[in-house]
Amino acid sequence: MSAQLSDSRRPLVVGNWKMHGSHAANEQLLEGLKSAGPLPCEVAVCVPFPYLAQAAERLARSAIAWGAQDCSAHEQGAFTGEVSAPMLADFGCRYAIVGHSERRALHGESDQLVADKAKAALAKGITPIVCVGETLAQREAGETESVVKRQLSAVIHTLAHCAGEMVVAYEPVWAIGTGRTATPEQAQAVHALLRAQLAAATPRAAQMKLLYGGSVKPDNAAQLFGQPDIDGGLIGGASLKAADFVAICRAAANH
Ligand code: PGA
Repeated sequence: MSAQLSDSRRPLVVGNWKMHGSHAANEQLLEGLKSAGPLPCEVAVCVPFPYLAQAAERLARSAIAWGAQDCSAHEQGAFTGEVSAPMLADFGCRYAIVGHSERRALHGESDQLVADKAKAALAKGITPIVCVGETLAQREAGETESVVKRQLSAVIHTLAHCAGEMVVAYEPVWAIGTGRTATPEQAQAVHALLRAQLAAATPRAAQMKLLYGGSVKPDNAAQLFGQPDIDGGLIGGASLKAADFVAICRAAANH
């Protein structure tokens, strides 16, 4: 394995704080992460928009990156309530989650809108973390493969020659916040499909990071991260406790 290949597949663990936090609570959490010392993976936290300045200030000069949980597909204009990629870049965001299942389900985001958001982020040098995943009904109907392929395909086509620059997160909807994790084998099977789909589209597929998300905890992270095509995780609930999040980051040493 070349040095470049091994470096780019260095695992990545991202905290998705969702709509949680306060100045005081964030202060404690960020201090807890900073004081953990060196971790065997790349680490980032995706915080609510109002706390980007706090994250940027507290994490500057640390090895921990920060990002947002969404990004407008538009660069500027009359889009009340939206936050653009240039604004995120202004706050030093390295990542933006796009297409989280909560946004797809609760805000009606289509595959094409998610793809346009990913493109807007990349245009400003922000790595989009593109979420894909099937619902329980879709899994039980045997549609997992067709659903995740359809979701990813929209992004691949829209990003075109830049498709290799995104991070993909496979998050089965039935595993998010439920305590019901996909088994390492179930997750690996989908990750392998996604990597094969990426390989048909970009020469960078083997170097791309594919994250797993959905009830990742300190006690199941190592097994998940030990799978050949799982390069880290997108962590919701467990990213709100410094000790748990750090333990999950340490489990990435198993990759
Ligand atoms: P969870 O959320 O870890 O709380 O299941 C993951 C996510 O939604 O990104």
